[in-house]
Amino acid sequence: MMKQRFLLFILMFAALGAAVDAQVARDSSLLLPKEKLKVWQNAKFGMFIHWGLYSIQGRGEWAMFNERQDIDEYAKLKDQFTAEKFNADEWVKIAAEAGCKYMVLTAKHHDGFALFDSKAGGFNSMMSPAKKDFIKEYTLACQKMGMLTGIYYSPLDWRYPGFFFPTMYRRNAEEMKQQTYTQVRELMSNYGNIDILWYDGGEDSWLGHGGLETGKNGWQKRPADKPYTGAFTWDPVKLNRMVRSLQSSIVINPRSGWMGDFDTHEVRIREKDIRKDLPWEYCTMIAGVWGWQTRGTVMPLDSCIRTLAGVVCRGGNMLLNVGPNAKGEIEPAQVARLREIGAWLKVNGESVYGTEEGPFEYSRSWGGSTKTDKNVYLHITRMPEGGLLVLPPALTKKIRSVVALASGKKVKFKQTKEEIRFEGLDKISYVSDLVLKIGF
Ligand code: GLC
Repeated sequence: MMKQRFLLFILMFAALGAAVDAQVARDSSLLLPKEKLKVWQNAKFGMFIHWGLYSIQGRGEWAMFNERQDIDEYAKLKDQFTAEKFNADEWVKIAAEAGCKYMVLTAKHHDGFALFDSKAGGFNSMMSPAKKDFIKEYTLACQKMGMLTGIYYSPLDWRYPGFFFPTMYRRNAEEMKQQTYTQVRELMSNYGNIDILWYDGGEDSWLGHGGLETGKNGWQKRPADKPYTGAFTWDPVKLNRMVRSLQSSIVINPRSGWMGDFDTHEVRIREKDIRKDLPWEYCTMIAGVWGWQTRGTVMPLDSCIRTLAGVVCRGGNMLLNVGPNAKGEIEPAQVARLREIGAWLKVNGESVYGTEEGPFEYSRSWGGSTKTDKNVYLHITRMPEGGLLVLPPALTKKIRSVVALASGKKVKFKQTKEEIRFEGLDKISYVSDLVLKIGF
């Protein structure tokens, strides 16, 4: 009975997915200096790749856990991991064609299977028929093609009972922690320059540590105000100090238990959670799934572009996930959509890359704005009635010119103390987001 409740809770929590910010180490001496962080911030658009043994089963990267698969049976999947279509250059090329300036690949997800040659964990791609260090090929391809190189790594490993019960299985939890330190060291040492380290599931409060408590109703979620106080800790500051000593310019996300260089939003952006004091990234999926599944349907182009525009207008980055199949191919329908995004960015990229949140506040009713040192860009993602957009007088300088970026068409405007009007917008042709460039 108790076990059932525990499992039920786990399922509920797995569905919720996201982290509860209970016990985050806030050591700001570890933060990357702002100028270095700018490189990543300016990149704006990245490609996330979830790929591993779960891609063989096709039921998502959580299948092992959600279905409580026998870990030894699951481990046998490695014998089917031939990855015969894997081609790192091809992945990076697709990302570049999509207009992505950075990539993040799952070096190890929660199932514990590492896509690289590792001395720890006893479970990696060198032991599969593919006999490849995929991280090596991937990082080389990124570095060769000038793509910022990101690595996803999950300290959380479902093979370790110590993850769920760190106090009771302390030795086991310490072994898992040792695995994390060894593997993170390997990833930071053996593959040249790494630009981004994207942890997932190393927070003290997430899923396991500090997330479970037995009360009168059996196992349940530990209240946020009652964090885990047992002896186990990831020592996230120590971990990331090691990372910084090996990669001095690396950008680190917040899911290791240390606060991180930026904030993350997953799948949904809650306006009230956008922090003005921190750079942020929104991650989502192009086909509704992280790891490859048959049920994935590709997001319409309009949504892709409007979502990206909405993110950059609020000062964020967007990391868009694809889940290649077990052979290593990104689905053709996803590739086609990515190329369409790339085509849009080719024309409108100057209003995205290297920009900051603009002076006109984002609103779902019409769109938002970005800015560079020289220009302000309006992203009109919903056409206003009669093609007339009236905005508040948020500019201090006098406008000299307004042109539609894609067509080069001049736009009629009127700037007064009370408002700024843009007229005839419905006569201009554009795809998904009408971008206007304002010059001074
Ligand atoms: C969620 C999912 C996890 C995925 C991650 C990406 O936490 O549970 O599987 O890797 O999102 O951000």
